[in-house]
Amino acid sequence: MLRVTTAGESHGPALIAILEGVPAGLALEEGDILPDLERRQTGSGIAKPYTGASPRMKMESDHARILGGVLAGKTTGAPIALLIENADHAKWRGRAVEAMTVPRPGHADWAAALKYDYDDFRIGLERASARETAARVAACAVCRKLLEQLQVTVGSYVARIGRTTVGALEDVSLAERLDRAESSALRCPDPSAEKDMQAEIEQAMQAGETLGGVIELAALGVPPGLGSHVQWNQKLSARLGAALFGIQAIKAVEIGDGESLAALPGTQAQDAIRLHDERIQRPTNHAGGIEAGISNGEPIRVRISMKPIATTIAKQPSVDFRAAGEEAETAYERSDFCAVPRAAIVGEAMMCFVLADAILETCGGDTMRDLLERFAGLRRGKISDLHISSEPKIFWPASE
Ligand SMILES: Cc1cc2nc3c(=O)[nH]c(=O)nc-3n(C[C@H](O)[C@H](O)[C@H](O)COP(=O)(O)O)c2cc1C
Repeated sequence: MLRVTTAGESHGPALIAILEGVPAGLALEEGDILPDLERRQTGSGIAKPYTGASPRMKMESDHARILGGVLAGKTTGAPIALLIENADHAKWRGRAVEAMTVPRPGHADWAAALKYDYDDFRIGLERASARETAARVAACAVCRKLLEQLQVTVGSYVARIGRTTVGALEDVSLAERLDRAESSALRCPDPSAEKDMQAEIEQAMQAGETLGGVIELAALGVPPGLGSHVQWNQKLSARLGAALFGIQAIKAVEIGDGESLAALPGTQAQDAIRLHDERIQRPTNHAGGIEAGISNGEPIRVRISMKPIATTIAKQPSVDFRAAGEEAETAYERSDFCAVPRAAIVGEAMMCFVLADAILETCGGDTMRDLLERFAGLRRGKISDLHISSEPKIFWPASE
């Protein structure tokens, strides 16, 4: 239902995003897109030392201009075109850039040059760079705006950076964790762990190293019935997985309790189905709000793991491709030391996209008015929402 395409290079004049499939009548202005762009630049909108963000983030002050699809402050149903200028571009325009002949392990340099027969490793990195995510975050801020009209909220927090993990958070509700992340420079809901994370980032920076981590993404207010079990690529879990694996440096995606479920006996890994006031209740949420690829009305919970940034001040072994090629060490170029808090915002953006897409698929509608009406009519978790018969039936008639 929804489609997002981006274009543009890291140091080129601008990034562009086109978002198709948004119903007509959604109130939208450039100010709606700004908060997520700011959050992507710092991780939480709060700039503090030791977040590990590249110095470029201080220079770029992203602003998305709406170039199409919105008239008189409302979406028209036409593709929405967004443009973000790269402030850094001025430094690159008209300048002869030294050839990049030594590829960095873990980046696009080598594989992209081989695939497209580039004669300079920089050509691959210009597009592989996560600068591209600014365009995606801008487009998906429109999806967030749509979700807000339906009282669906998407948030995130950082659960791990390097070796430091958050402490026990069982007593802190999911909503409170997401809230706390908004006032933490590292998006960490545990102040004591945040201090240790900051110390670990500082140490890594001094050692010329970089760090990865783990992000928890969550969506609240999601109705049951999104996605489908009937085909592998219609499963909400598969769609979230594909979208989140599409983020640079994301190397694992877990739905609900994910990997840890593998170690549990069957009875402990499921979420009991209970009844309270004629409503279905789930006392736990190991499944992360998705069963058989369909949302079950509980909060959607997804964990994503980010590898450490490939560009390091500390040298890494590689090969210099000048002339016949010889073993060489990588050269450093300005880069993030730890981009986990910033990647969390990109994760939120992709989650907003997948959920808005799945809602439009279930509810349809050319206009926001249609969508709101149909969304309000969705079956929820009441006993009366189901029509289960107690009569036996012949599913497959005997041959005539
Ligand atoms: C928000 C964000 C910021 C990133 N910043 C950098 C960076 O400054 N330097 C870098 O080498 N990689 C950075 N990356 C990761 C690279 O883009 C990524 O590792 C590279 O494109 C290769 O892709 P892969 O790791 O998915 O294999 C960042 C990723 C994200 C999500």
